[in-house]
Amino acid sequence: MDNETKSTLWPPPLVLDIFTGFQKSQALFVTTELQLYDLLAIHQNGMTANEIASKKKLNLDATERILDYATGLKLIKKDFKSESKTAIYSNYPEIAEVLQSSKPNNMVAAIKYASRIQYPLYQHLITMIKSGKNTETYKKAFGFEVTTEICEHLYEFDKDYSETFLQFMHQLSSITSPGVAKAFDLSPFCEICDLGGGSGALAYALASEYPDATVTVFDLATAVEAAQKITPDKTERQKVKFVSGDFFQDEFPPASLYTFARTIQDWPDEKVHQLLDKTFKSLESGGAILIAELLMNETKTGPLYPLGANVQMMIERSGRQRTETEYRLLLEKHGFVDFECKFVEGYSSYHAIIAKKP
Ligand SMILES: C[S@@+](CC[C@H](N)C(=O)[O-])C[C@H]1O[C@@H](n2cnc3c(N)ncnc32)[C@H](O)[C@@H]1O
Repeated sequence: MDNETKSTLWPPPLVLDIFTGFQKSQALFVTTELQLYDLLAIHQNGMTANEIASKKKLNLDATERILDYATGLKLIKKDFKSESKTAIYSNYPEIAEVLQSSKPNNMVAAIKYASRIQYPLYQHLITMIKSGKNTETYKKAFGFEVTTEICEHLYEFDKDYSETFLQFMHQLSSITSPGVAKAFDLSPFCEICDLGGGSGALAYALASEYPDATVTVFDLATAVEAAQKITPDKTERQKVKFVSGDFFQDEFPPASLYTFARTIQDWPDEKVHQLLDKTFKSLESGGAILIAELLMNETKTGPLYPLGANVQMMIERSGRQRTETEYRLLLEKHGFVDFECKFVEGYSSYHAIIAKKP
């Protein structure tokens, strides 16, 4: 295609791509929810649409259409048996690595969470933008009101929710935590407490990097309960202590280093001030705080992933993504010094920040 043809396309390809973005997400969501990647993994030679539809008890025409769209999106491979011209669908190995539920670094829980919780909320984004609050958004999407303690509401919302959410967090954290644990020399800290530590992914990474330190996860009781199912390895589990509690209401377990991974993003500034004030007061002199978060650039023009996550935090949690300077100012306001910030390899613009109590 020459440049002249390109420039006359209506709408411009960028706009068309964004316009149809929801169709792509939905194709990913339904093929994952239907566990098609798991089914195709069992049938190494591929399956016809008819075989897939009858195995999953689906409508044949609809199955064929979604499979063909997934083929166009390069999620699923389509070949033809030369003699009969019958279409055979199979997995692309690199795609199945993340969409097949038995693979160690799969993102199935993240997709289920996006499909069941985030997508319904986004259908009411305009309500959120008009009011600046997500109360009405939750009511429209799920029929219940939330306060800023959204996590507790959601844990009670559905019995599968807490496990799906923690699994989603665990999948992300398992990728990023080794990098966070290695970002700074944490050997001076012999008691580490991961506040809002969820599944314990960061705590396990810290325990393996610093075997002499005691590492505690502090999280809401529902999360602590769900975490036990997510990290079933008994020897791993012995390295980390789980304590249940509410970080706004209860005393923090004692520590010389408090960590918050993807947890400050969940809260508006006034709540973050409460957490930072409490962290500062809970530390002895020389103690430190480590925060791991996605960072937006200083002009908030990129990267795209944290910019999107900033909208997501608004609609989903009443929180926000921040820039490095915003984190530095928040920490300095509470008396923290020696601020350092490092990029963590492996996941978008994830950064580790450390600051100390003088
Ligand atoms: C976005 S998740 C991050 C989990 C984990 N740090 C990670 O990176 O995988 C936020 C965590 O904060 C916890 N949390 C929310 N409100 C809390 C509270 N009031 N007290 C303690 N933990 C809380 C949630 O249960 C959840 O595990």
